[in-house]
Amino acid sequence: MIVHLTASTTDRSAHGIAQTIGALVADGTVRVGDRLPTVREVARAMSVSPTTVSEAWQTLQRHGIIETRRRRGTFVSERSGAMASRFWQVPVDRGLYDIDLSTGTPDPDLLPDPSAFFSAMGRAPQMTSYLDRPLLVALEDHLRADWPFDPEHITVVNGALDALDRVIATAIPFASKVIVSDPTFPPILDMLDLVGATAIGVALDSEGLIPEALAEALGANDVAAIIVQPRAQNPTGASWSSTRAAALAGILEPTSLLILEDDHSGPASGTELHSLGAHLPGRVTHIRSFSKSHGPDLRLAAIGGPSSPVMDLIRRRRLGPSWTSRLLQQLLLDMLQSPKVEAEVDHAAHMYRQRWSAMRESLSLRGVRVNPGSGLNMWVPVGDETVATVSLAANGIGVAPGRPFRVRIGGAPHLRVTTSVIATNPEAIADRIADAALLDPRA
Ligand SMILES: Cc1ncc(COP(=O)(O)O)c(C=O)c1O
Repeated sequence: MIVHLTASTTDRSAHGIAQTIGALVADGTVRVGDRLPTVREVARAMSVSPTTVSEAWQTLQRHGIIETRRRRGTFVSERSGAMASRFWQVPVDRGLYDIDLSTGTPDPDLLPDPSAFFSAMGRAPQMTSYLDRPLLVALEDHLRADWPFDPEHITVVNGALDALDRVIATAIPFASKVIVSDPTFPPILDMLDLVGATAIGVALDSEGLIPEALAEALGANDVAAIIVQPRAQNPTGASWSSTRAAALAGILEPTSLLILEDDHSGPASGTELHSLGAHLPGRVTHIRSFSKSHGPDLRLAAIGGPSSPVMDLIRRRRLGPSWTSRLLQQLLLDMLQSPKVEAEVDHAAHMYRQRWSAMRESLSLRGVRVNPGSGLNMWVPVGDETVATVSLAANGIGVAPGRPFRVRIGGAPHLRVTTSVIATNPEAIADRIADAALLDPRA
């Protein structure tokens, strides 16, 4: 192993050593169960201090790549390729609750009915070819006309999660640091864990990432990428104002970070989009999902931006599924071009906004203060997450605990409550949530 390590490491910092070992594990040169040389042996062979090697070992340990087995030494961990776990904590116990507000999903009754458009699929290219263009020309034209900037490349993938997964897996080097909002969507943290990246959390207010906090995080860390949600942020509901987007773009402009913008609720967000791409058009990769607006089972999202990472994604996907079904692309295109569907999506966005604001207002009247926002989810402060979750469960209401959403260990306790599905009895639900939020864990 020492031979591989010395041969492959160009950067002899702790970060560089950790990165090299991560890469050796990822490409199979070093295998699960292999014993690592001692800190002293590595330090001697690489002419670095034992402290530097210890630091590298700590990074690898934190990411579950290696583990120490007492006096027997340090080994490549069985967990080194294991699935990360935050995602599976949300939603909570599906099907168990009378009212499930833990899912983060749209109201099925507010989604457009696609069946009227199934005949559109007959207009898609025949299902016989591997060689057709991956993205329908007419869909590309439609997407480009509605994109917040002129993207160098654009394509369609299987949902925003697919886009995030592909970009994170291919464009974020092992052991890099990546800025995300704190709190954020748990799968983003899981995906970063899997590439051995460290998430650096930046605080939010009701207009999104706080510029001073972003500047501070950038100043204190060597950051490779930033992953942000411009509107209806999950879990807080925050959307950037135009002033905030301009301020954030100003801070990011002098950097060379990969900027990944996840517009996961798209036209269902209930607020205007202020994209960083309007300020930094050649720099931003923007993802727009159609899951919340047109239907989760379409599994469709568009991703547009510079050659790296978008063209890299397109090329890498050629080795796998290559493209997203053109039948579904045609279905989406026909839905996007339908005035009836547009009106239905506008109505859904209006209803989500109304349900969100009504819940905020009701909670406020009951003594629970939530920051302004919109979208499908609300971040509700509570005395204790477990006590509040259990109390609501006893009343037949499922909610998600805040823990998997938080980057920083600790932090103020919250619940993530999906308000998009509260179609009836909002006052009774607000009563229960407020009671649970105000429960004193020490009582
Ligand atoms: C921030 C964020 N990104 C991505 C997704 C998933 O989007 P998709 O269904 O398009 O994969 C969600 C869904 O809740 C989300 O909140």
